[in-house]
Amino acid sequence: MSAPATVLPSLAADVRDGLTRSGLKELAPKYFYDARGSELFDQITSQPEYYPTPCERAILNRHAPHIVAGAHELVELGSGLASKTRALLYAMAGTGGLRRYVPFDCDPWVVERCAEELTELYPGLEVNGVVGDFQTDLDAIPRGERRVVALLGGTIGNLYPGERADFLHAVRRLLADGDRFVLGTDLVKDVAVLEAAYNDAAGVTAEFNLNVLHVLNRELGADFDVDAFAHVAFFDRDSSWVEMRLRARGEQRVSIPGAGIEVELADGEEIRTEISSKFTLQALHRELAEAGMGIEHFYTDPDGLFGLSVAVPQ
Ligand code: SAH
Ligand code: TRP
Repeated sequence: MSAPATVLPSLAADVRDGLTRSGLKELAPKYFYDARGSELFDQITSQPEYYPTPCERAILNRHAPHIVAGAHELVELGSGLASKTRALLYAMAGTGGLRRYVPFDCDPWVVERCAEELTELYPGLEVNGVVGDFQTDLDAIPRGERRVVALLGGTIGNLYPGERADFLHAVRRLLADGDRFVLGTDLVKDVAVLEAAYNDAAGVTAEFNLNVLHVLNRELGADFDVDAFAHVAFFDRDSSWVEMRLRARGEQRVSIPGAGIEVELADGEEIRTEISSKFTLQALHRELAEAGMGIEHFYTDPDGLFGLSVAVPQ
């Protein structure tokens, strides 16, 4: 495995940039995922309101043999704990094609855990974990053949449209003829359903959102009073995304020595911590085509809540 760092090296510069803006302050969602963040995300996926995971799992369980037919390796970007991925590996093992799994994540803890568990499950499998940022480090992925590259969980929706286009072009460059890109995306639907998924009654998403402040306190020596912030999530119809924010309860003055800044927040001021874009099949066709890929198959769950595209280079 490549050298694990606790957090991505871009943290201090991104925090400085995002929190010193004159408009809406912002923190990038990739910094949610330290070991605790990854564990909280895992808990989100079993909340009753969070439909994306069971929907995507159902699609993968049902169509895995077709999705991975003929592939020898699976490269999974933002693998997390890879709980749904097992259907794909199982299908590959079933045809005798499974050679290598490359879990790629910015959180070293999940990459290590994945590598351990999967090596145990499939003794002949080569697990080649990579710790990195899929927005900048895709060239750290070892070369391979007959590959499926996957990004599940709707994670692509956490990138802004411009970042998404850059990312899709970079993925396209990874693909040789015969390779495939498997992309899980959440779909546009009823606002109440969308908003409930990011406001679970048990408050796990709120805790996950607040965790980014713990990361800043630990990694940059910041002194955020985490209890003085509230979780906010709402659907923005114009942008077609759910937006997650942290709202200051009372005026805050925060020092962030690791980023060399002091930040003042007014009472009620918000920091945007994440967007989660919701797609239509038409938008997916367009964005993938712009990056040189065509959708070969598009699967949804029976209720049409979540979509899984299988795209090929064009
Ligand atoms: N694939 C899993 C986890 C999704 S959560 C699922 O579908 O349930 C998103 C995952 O992507 C997290 O594990 C997070 O650590 C990782 N991630 C987010 N931004 C990243 C980035 N820029 N580079 C690498 N990994 C990233
Ligand atoms: N990729 C997931 C999504 O957009 C990540 C996620 C789920 C998330 N719930 C969250 C990120 C809450 C931040 C806060 O659905």
